[in-house]
Order: sequence, then C-alpha cells, then structure tokens
Amino acid sequence: MKEFMPQNMESKKKVLVTGGLGFIGSHTVLSLIKSGFSPVIVDDCRNSQEFIHDSLQRLSGTKIPWIKEDYQSFDSYREYLEDEDLDGIVHFAAYKAVGESVENPMMYFQNNVSGFIALLNEVLKHDIKNVVFSSSCTVYGQPESNPVTEQTPMQIAESPYGATKQMCERILQDFAAAHKEVNSIALRYFNPVGAHHSHEIGELPLNKPNNLMPLVVMAAKGLIEKLTVYGNDYQTKDGTCIRDYIHVEDLADAHVKALDYLMTPSSENYKFVNLGNGTGYSVLEVIQKFAEVNEVVVPHEIGERRPGDVEAIYADTSMAREILNWQASKDLSDMVRDSWQWSKFLDKSNG
Ligand code: UD1
Repeated sequence: MKEFMPQNMESKKKVLVTGGLGFIGSHTVLSLIKSGFSPVIVDDCRNSQEFIHDSLQRLSGTKIPWIKEDYQSFDSYREYLEDEDLDGIVHFAAYKAVGESVENPMMYFQNNVSGFIALLNEVLKHDIKNVVFSSSCTVYGQPESNPVTEQTPMQIAESPYGATKQMCERILQDFAAAHKEVNSIALRYFNPVGAHHSHEIGELPLNKPNNLMPLVVMAAKGLIEKLTVYGNDYQTKDGTCIRDYIHVEDLADAHVKALDYLMTPSSENYKFVNLGNGTGYSVLEVIQKFAEVNEVVVPHEIGERRPGDVEAIYADTSMAREILNWQASKDLSDMVRDSWQWSKFLDKSNG
C-alpha cells in the first residue's frame, strides 16, 4: 500500500535517523517523509529487521538511504555527516530492556551513554544544528503525584536503563548550555504501543517480549498460555498498575513537530518534553479493551508484583501542546486494534 509520494526531493530537509528501522524509528521515518523531510537511516539491525526497510520504501513510495552499521561507526556514514545540507539527527539507537540492563549494565552505559557522547562530538565537528533525543518517562521513577509535568523531580533511577536516559538528558542539557549554536530536545515517551495504520510495520521484539502489549497479543493467539498481570494490590482503581499508553503514530508525528520547533528561530536551544496521551489506564483496562475491540479472549491471571514496577504514571502534556503544537489523536481502541492487526499481518507474511 503506497500512501504518499514526496514531491521535490531536492528541496527537502535531510535528517539522519539512528535506529530508524526500530519500532518508533520506523514510524518516525514515515512521518518525516510525509512532512517533507528526507531521512537517512543508520541501523545495524541488532534489534530490528531488514524487511522493515522494504516496507518503509513501499509505504512511502520513495528510496530511503540506509547505512547498515552501528551508529557509532561514524566513518561508515561520514559522507552524510559531512553533508552541509544535513539539518539534524533524530537519535533512537539505544538498548531499552530494563531487565537486561540490570544483567549487563556496562553494555547499556557503553551503547546508550558513551555512544551518545561520541555522537554529540560528531554533531559539533560537522556543525549539525538540531538533535532530537529519545528519552523516557522512566526518568521520573515513581512520581509522588500524577499527572507528571516536566517539572516533576526525577527520582533515583531504578535500573541502569533508566540511569542511561537520565545521564543522556543531563549530558544534552550541559552540551546545549555550552553550545548555543546547536538546538536539542529530549522527548520523554510514555508507553508506546499500536502500529502503523497500514498494519505493515509495527513492534518486532526479537527476543522474548517483556512489555505488556506484545504479551497481550501472544496470549490472545495462544502463544503463551496466560498473561500474568503483575500485581493487583496497588493503590489504583482496580489494583493494577497505571500507565499512559501512546499510539506509535502519534509519537512519530511528535518527532516531526520537535524538528519544526528546533528549526524555528525563536525556540530555546534545549527542551525536554513529555509525550503521552495524558490518560492513565490500568493493566486490566488494557486487557479488557483489547478483548472487546478485537473480539478475542485474552487469557490472564493475577501474579506477583514485578520488582521495580512503578505503581502509576501518566503525563501532563501541556508543554507538548504549547511548544510543539502536538497532541495525541489516537485512543486506546486504536492502539489495541492496530497492535492486533499488525500481528495478523505478520502471521500472513510468515505464511
Ligand atoms: C518500562 C520502562 C519504560 C521503558 C519500557 C520499554 C520503567 C518505569 N518503565 O515500561 O521506561 O520505555 O519499559 O521497555 O522502567 N505488565 C503486566 N504483565 C506483563 C507485562 C507488563 O502486568 O506480562 C504490566 C506492568 O506491570 C506495567 C504495564 O504492564 O504496569 C506496562 O509494562 P511494560 O509494557 O513492561 O512497560 P513499563 O514497565 O511501564
């Protein structure tokens, strides 16, 4: 399904997208093209799959340059870094599994933090003007109250993964203070779910998934016997944890708005912004909505609390509305429908 044909490629703003074949990266690549940007992907497929590149080209009707290398192998895409027309970098490439980060913290600090410092040195070296950084609501830890605003104090990170996001934000903030010529923004994602409305790209956890939505899908398909709900004795409406789920297409659009913001002359040169729906849903509400919208059964049982889980967190999204002119447009029904339809597309493709 080809949905849009970019017009004049020459005048387009070029953007490097590290991790551009991943879940949020791939959707952002489509949003960028739709909005007149010309993305160049750097992704070594360590946590993504090659066919996503074909899908992106098919869906956008355009050739998308792709460097299949570690984003830290700067020499492999030096020509793009040196390109005077390169307007910015959207940096997704990072590890993101909380449990894995506890087992192998050095791998997380190396890839997520050292790599990011090296990338910022490239930004300076090549006079790149705009940087969008993928952060996470994990920086807030367990907040004292909800919704969380950008002013809500950070808590000590529960995991090395969370620590890498806090560290990178701090690095970016200090970098921005010292280098006023570079504009940057950290986007604090809440819980990204759903899939592209074509259902031809979506989340592809390569190892055993840990996140709720892929596991709900697996339970509905009978690939696992039952989904375990991690605890129902929290101080919440039904005892299960509350999260702010956000459709990945909404999130992707926010990256385009973030670049637009950075490229506006009056913008501040460093910002951090919450990206969520602004509504908190419990685990049981997600399961119920999934079952109702998709007319399936999601076998589940109540289990123990998962260590490190935050009881409740959802976003105050006023800043995103104000400075990015962005707000989520898709609701939980869209999210559960698109997650399910994407999984069915994968089944069909796998024959
Ligand atoms: C965590 C991180 C987030 C990170 C995301 C990516 C924290 C606080 N949050 O989000 O920053 O971006 O992982 O991996 O570190 N649940 C079940 N059963 C399951 C799986 C999940 O009940 O089998 C529940 C969890 O307890 C939680 C909710 O579903 O309440 C969402 O969990 P999950 O999808 O893993 O995301 P977070 O833990 O919120």
